[in-house]
Amino acid sequence: MADKIAVTLNEVFPELPSAKANLIKNYLTLLFKWHETGNIVSSSDQEYVIKREIYDSSILSKLVTGTSFTDIGSGGGLPGIILAILNPDKDVILLDRKTTFINFLEIVKSELDLTNVIVKKQDFFDVKYTIDSECALFKNFSNKKIAKMGFENKLNYLIKTVKKSKSVSKVYILTGSPVLQLSKQVYEDYKMNAHKITSPFFDTSRYIAEIHL
Ligand SMILES: C[S@@+](CC[C@H](N)C(=O)[O-])C[C@H]1O[C@@H](n2cnc3c(N)ncnc32)[C@H](O)[C@@H]1O
Repeated sequence: MADKIAVTLNEVFPELPSAKANLIKNYLTLLFKWHETGNIVSSSDQEYVIKREIYDSSILSKLVTGTSFTDIGSGGGLPGIILAILNPDKDVILLDRKTTFINFLEIVKSELDLTNVIVKKQDFFDVKYTIDSECALFKNFSNKKIAKMGFENKLNYLIKTVKKSKSVSKVYILTGSPVLQLSKQVYEDYKMNAHKITSPFFDTSRYIAEIHL
């Protein structure tokens, strides 16, 4: 398994220094091992996960500015773990409410010795919770409170919740093409930019919505 991961990583990130490539390889080895018994990542297809999830997370990691980040609903650690590996100077909180994910993320933090990572078991919607970072990250955040909402209402709900935390000045959302259909009002209210992630591997592009609060 590790060989296939290493070969694909080398194809996708030929320029990546070996120390960082090794950390990503070790992370993916743990991720796919845990995925065999629990649903921890979007697919068990290693090549797909590297070319889509890890590649897109690496583009996000290059684009973001700021020193501290909370990855809300981090699940198996995407994009937060990749951000932390590629940017050891940035502090990353991986937040999830589910014990399985928290246990997995604690193991990743410890095995990879990621000193810039904090793992936090927390319900994002808890009224007493406030985010303790400059930036909030979302990727595939799903919760029954927002499951039936359209994309724009979902976004407004998440931003309204984030805004209760005074420390947050920027929100990044790694998402799909629905971001292009958002109203002009949303783009204006949130001083929002949608950055296209041009994929060398897939025809469909994802986007990073950058929101300024
Ligand atoms: C579809 S997964 C996405 C995981 C990861 N970000 C990714 O893209 O692979 C959604 C995650 O959000 C978490 N989640 C849902 N509601 C939450 C809440 N209220 N507070 C914290 N985490 C939550 C779930 O436990 C799950 O891990």
